[in-house]
Amino acid sequence: MTSDSFVLKGNICWSTSQTEVACEEGVCAVCVGGTCAGVWDAADLPDAYAGLPVVDCGDALVIPGMNDIHVHAPQYAFRGIGMDRELIEWLNTYTFPEEARYRDLTYAERAYSIFADDLRRSPTCRAVVFGTIHVPATRLLMDKLEATGLVSYVGKVNMDRNAPLSLVETSGASAAATRRWLDDVAGRYERTRPILTPRFTPSVTDGLMKDLGWIREEFDVPVQSHLSENLSEVAWVRELCPWASCYGAAYDRFGLLGPHTVMAHCVYSSDEEMGLLRRTGTYVAHCPQSNAQLASGIAPVRRYLDEGLSVGLGTDVAGGASLSMWRAMSDAVAASKLRWRFVDQELAPLTWQEALWLATVGGGSFFGFVGKFEEGYDFDALVVDDSALRAPRELSVPERLERCVHLGSEGARLVRKFVAGREIDLA
Ligand code: GUN
Ligand code: FE
Repeated sequence: MTSDSFVLKGNICWSTSQTEVACEEGVCAVCVGGTCAGVWDAADLPDAYAGLPVVDCGDALVIPGMNDIHVHAPQYAFRGIGMDRELIEWLNTYTFPEEARYRDLTYAERAYSIFADDLRRSPTCRAVVFGTIHVPATRLLMDKLEATGLVSYVGKVNMDRNAPLSLVETSGASAAATRRWLDDVAGRYERTRPILTPRFTPSVTDGLMKDLGWIREEFDVPVQSHLSENLSEVAWVRELCPWASCYGAAYDRFGLLGPHTVMAHCVYSSDEEMGLLRRTGTYVAHCPQSNAQLASGIAPVRRYLDEGLSVGLGTDVAGGASLSMWRAMSDAVAASKLRWRFVDQELAPLTWQEALWLATVGGGSFFGFVGKFEEGYDFDALVVDDSALRAPRELSVPERLERCVHLGSEGARLVRKFVAGREIDLA
């Protein structure tokens, strides 16, 4: 499909609310100039759209694109390896040595080519991505993601303490490099944007956080970081920032929270911290696979939703091994059941519909009007052939979609993928 105005005809499914999914069979989803115009029965298609090219998706499922709002591109290289430590030891043992390699652009070229290729072929349409401290490698990553046609926020990481010499910057150099990078990439890309990326409080001094707060205002850029992921980390932040009433306050003091900010994890957020996240409109990236594999804990995702926080899903590769947002949805449901069983029976487990909402609308809203087939939303769509998931009886469309949430990573074939109306090459 070369035009950005067309009709997808098929089994169109999307979240109409946090708890409800519409599945309309054999209908037409209309894309005009990259934006969804709505969904109609073929017989009721408004005349204005009658002449548009029609992509017949047959019996495939057509669903909104997935949004991975927390993933580390350089860590894709060691995904599935070294999953035997908790956070701080894992960072020191595996992650920092790997990220130090990205000083070498030849290595970065090899590694980021693999990451960008695999992300392009995955159900993820949009991503919020950590790079490393290295500006040239981060630029390369941005070039590669731009070439995929996906939409992304990409961050040059800031770190000026508690890291090996090979992966630490001086405070002044870190802020200056960030400024230069932001100047350099301004207006350069259509679908790739910079995002400020203080790694987390243990890696960033208050002085550098303050500079980043200024830079945020000056350049009007969004922010990503980590928050309250692991018990030792939370205790460490208490020592590092004795002035902060909660971990989140160590970011808020410098103007780094807000509706433009994604904080990953929030497994151990106190009532005060939850209130801060809600008042500031900060996004929580719920990363269930990483929380399990780094033995961080079970995040109270139901509580975030009940409290009205903005929440989406992250794969957090390589804390989580899998880049698959199918896996992230299924893991979110499973983790919420463990929390309910072992921690708090007041917090009802997530349903598959809610997991789909988190992956599409919840995270998508960080990018604007994204995640639904409704008028005015960016047209992000996946055409999914689930026929390899064989069944001895006919399944309804909602049953097939539910099965994809749990089994998509092993048996759903992505046939076509569109991001803001542009078809993505899946070869
Ligand atoms: N906290 C600080 N850095 C990281 C990271 O790379 N991964 C995860 N999961 N948590 C972090
Ligand atoms: Fe992370």
